[in-house]
Amino acid sequence: MISNKVVSLGAVFAMMIMAAGLAQASSHGGNHNKADALVMEREALMEGIGGSMGALACYLKEECKLEPKIAKRLAVGISAMAKPSIEAFRTPTPTASKKTTAIAKIWTDWDQFEEGLMSMSTKAQGLAEAIKNGKMGDIKAAMGELGKNCKGCHDNFREKK
Ligand code: HEC
Repeated sequence: MISNKVVSLGAVFAMMIMAAGLAQASSHGGNHNKADALVMEREALMEGIGGSMGALACYLKEECKLEPKIAKRLAVGISAMAKPSIEAFRTPTPTASKKTTAIAKIWTDWDQFEEGLMSMSTKAQGLAEAIKNGKMGDIKAAMGELGKNCKGCHDNFREKK
């Protein structure tokens, strides 16, 4: 039951990513577009991660109701997005014409970047565990840890506004 739902959540993301890829592939070919497709894929993954995080924050602030098992799946989903994100970022895309806030430091400091995503996976898993155990103090602490991970990477590897 639980694993089914997790798989179907994963499938939704996979479809979003495929749709992004297909939209690009159907316009023109070439490196330009391959780079743009990668940028779109990265952004779609991050949007998915951000959406789950937003729902979890709303739940923890008690601004919206969510069954704990659904909240747990959102955290597991964030954890599962780490691997595809590592793959989507691995290849540099200097020829992309699509707007991106990703900076070149990602590829000069790749190990640190990859480590950030692996840590996101571990921390999201920790959050899922805390939600399962149901202690609000632990859940909030785990959420804080995960939020610091997002911010840490964004501060380091995204264009400053
Ligand atoms: C290891 C680095 C890293 C981690 C960890 C990370 N992000 Fe990101 N994130 C990025 C980069 C780089 C971009 C910019 C992508 C672009 O503009 O092409 C981004 C972009 C985003 C975006 C904007 C997507 C868009 O449409 O442009 C959101 C939302 C987001 N991240 C949410 C999160 C959340 C929430 C977490 C933590 C649970 C997180 N990210 C963790 C590197 C990271």
